[in-house]
Amino acid sequence: MNIKKSALQVLLGLAALALSAAALAQSAASADAAPAPAPASATGQGTEYSEKGADTCLGCHDEESATFSTAALFKSKHAQRGSARAPFGPGGLQCEACHGPGARHSAKGSKKTLTTNSFKKDSFLPVQVRNQACLSCHEGFSRSGWHSGAHDRNGLACTDCHKVHAERDAVLTKSTEQDICLGCHSKQRAEFQKASTHPVKNGRMGCSDCHNQHGTSNPAMLVKPTLNQTCYSCHAEKRGPVLWEHAPVAEDCSLCHAAHGSVRPALLTKTPPLLCQQCHTTASHPAIARTGASLPGGTAAGSSAFLLAGSCTNCHSQVHGSNHPSGAKLMR
Ligand code: HEC
Ligand code: HEC
Ligand code: HEC
Ligand code: HEC
Ligand code: HEC
Ligand code: HEC
Ligand code: HEC
Ligand code: HEC
Ligand code: HEC
Ligand code: HEC
Repeated sequence: MNIKKSALQVLLGLAALALSAAALAQSAASADAAPAPAPASATGQGTEYSEKGADTCLGCHDEESATFSTAALFKSKHAQRGSARAPFGPGGLQCEACHGPGARHSAKGSKKTLTTNSFKKDSFLPVQVRNQACLSCHEGFSRSGWHSGAHDRNGLACTDCHKVHAERDAVLTKSTEQDICLGCHSKQRAEFQKASTHPVKNGRMGCSDCHNQHGTSNPAMLVKPTLNQTCYSCHAEKRGPVLWEHAPVAEDCSLCHAAHGSVRPALLTKTPPLLCQQCHTTASHPAIARTGASLPGGTAAGSSAFLLAGSCTNCHSQVHGSNHPSGAKLMR
């Protein structure tokens, strides 16, 4: 390793010499106002692949850093030898399947950061080109909508979420996925701190159970075409059909529930009776039933236990709809 390192330093030294020589030659040339010939250290990737594939690369890159580890890469699915689709499978381009043609980068005197796809933010390649290296193998499945999603529109890179030179890619595990999402989505971080939330914090669910982070044309990049269909994928019993439907339930769950979190129980957007009174101000009984008299068919005599807390759901308990023959008023 040390031998290689010093060899590398020598190479770098030579490269630096070559560069300064080229620079000298160039300034001399420009003094003549003649067009400078393309220097040997041409930038851009070129189209030539290296001669020995990974062996070429590993000749210089056999070390580990915070963002780079060949040992970890070789334990990941990308390193599988059996699959013809994998970079290291039969006929695969190995390192260059991702980093692109590497002959120019590997050549002496080339500008190392300007001749390979580093996948880094400061790369000379625009994000669309960096992503295309991944999409060339991965544009199917959940990524078929990548170009219609908000993440592509906002210039996210695959590598904003994925770590490739890693044995385990944290974003693929439900319990660690949210850390990556919430790193950018601070408003949602606050929502998931509230008293009532979906069980995302403890890793029972991930953001990706409801969202396709790779992009869809569905509202809010939900996994299903509508909000309700997304909810039904787990709360199938709320889909019905029921004998007595409650109109807003079939229309939009978010009329009453906040999907991420709420300070009220059951993710409610408001506390009953207020929740109900947004729509029911002129029911056959006064909106706020405070005395027996204000109940349908009620008399001024005596109060009712159901009036406790004025909650509508004490009586109208079947708020999602009723299958009882006499459940028209959602009470049973
Ligand atoms: C002759 C030695 C040499 C060879 C061969 C070589 N590299 Fe490099 N590479 C370097 C050096 C030196 C750097 C560091 C440049 C810097 O950080 O300024 C580098 C940097 C990189 C980077 C990071 C670039 C950046 O912008 O930060 C990637 C990615 C890379 N090499 C991939 C490869 C791949 C893939 C191969 C095989 C096709 C390869 N290298 C072959 C010497 C080499
Ligand atoms: C499946 C795609 C893929 C393959 C195959 C791959 N890399 Fe990378 N490489 C990446 C990505 C993505 C990054 C950016 C860091 C990250 O997100 O892990 C990277 C980063 C690097 C860097 C820059 C690290 C730094 O911090 O400057 C080097 C050097 C590198 N790779 C070399 C290699 C070599 C050598 C091979 C072959 C043994 C290889 N890569 C194979 C995707 C790949
Ligand atoms: C040459 C084709 C190829 C390229 C290029 C490629 N991949 Fe892959 N990738 C694969 C194959 C094959 C698998 C394994 C699929 C399987 O076995 O389920 C895979 C698996 C993955 C997985 C799942 C890993 C796991 O442990 O389940 C992720 C995430 C991934 N690739 C991301 C990327 C990213 C990000 C890039 C670009 C930096 C990239 N890939 C470039 C072929 C490729
Ligand atoms: C906003 C974060 C994010 C971005 C950006 C992102 N991914 Fe993912 N990716 C995930 C999460 C989370 C999962 C695991 C959940 C799932 O499968 O949907 C995943 C899973 C995967 C998988 C493995 C499962 C499968 O569907 O085969 C592959 C491959 C993959 N992503 C490739 C890519 C590629 C290629 C890009 C860039 C075009 C990309 N991802 C961009 C977050 C992201
Ligand atoms: C690198 C930053 C970043 C990361 C990481 C990230 N996002 Fe985003 N996300 C954005 C940006 C930027 C937007 C567009 C502006 C906005 O709506 O805030 C966005 C938008 C969204 C939207 C709204 C889509 C729409 O059509 O309105 C959803 C949903 C979303 N992200 C989910 C996720 C999920 C799930 C993850 C984790 C798997 C994630 N994001 C990780 C930056 C990020
Ligand atoms: C139970 C399903 C569900 C889960 C889990 C979920 N979301 Fe959402 N998310 C939604 C719904 C539904 C909307 C649309 C809200 C609306 O339009 O009323 C949404 C909207 C969004 C938006 C768009 C902006 C906004 O607030 O309207 C972002 C960004 C977002 N979610 C990020 C996340 C992140 C990050 C996570 C994980 C920490 C996550 N979501 C988990 C269902 C979910
Ligand atoms: C991926 C599955 C999944 C999806 C999709 C989903 N949920 Fe849930 N939901 C759950 C789980 C799991 C719980 C927690 C149940 C428990 O704790 O026993 C839950 C609980 C709830 C609760 C009760 C919370 C409480 O504190 O009592 C409400 C209300 C709810 N979900 C509404 C929705 C709505 C609205 C949607 C659509 C935007 C939705 N869910 C989508 C899995 C899901
Ligand atoms: C008209 C307002 C309203 C609408 C619309 C609504 N809900 Fe509810 N939901 C409630 C109320 C109120 C509660 C609390 C019931 C209680 O106190 O027992 C609740 C409780 C829940 C619960 C937890 C208790 C249970 O019954 O399992 C889930 C899950 C749930 N709703 C899912 C949904 C889904 C999915 C939708 C959309 C299909 C939806 N809700 C639409 C008012 C509503
Ligand atoms: C977003 C508006 C909305 C909200 C919020 C709402 N409802 Fe409704 N509700 C309706 C509509 C629309 C109907 C159907 C009215 C009709 O058929 O004339 C209805 C019907 C009903 C009925 C049956 C009425 C009948 O004539 O058969 C009852 C009972 C009822 N709602 C109770 C509640 C309760 C209790 C809540 C609070 C938990 C609530 N509603 C919240 C819109 C709403
Ligand atoms: C003590 C029990 C009780 C409480 C509490 C209660 N209701 Fe009722 N409500 C009834 C009964 C009983 C009927 C049916 C009257 C009938 O069949 O003519 C009814 C009927 C309704 C209807 C249908 C109106 C119609 O024209 O038939 C609506 C809407 C309604 N209630 C909404 C509410 C709302 C909103 C609240 C909370 C502010 C509420 N109720 C609280 C017992 C109650």
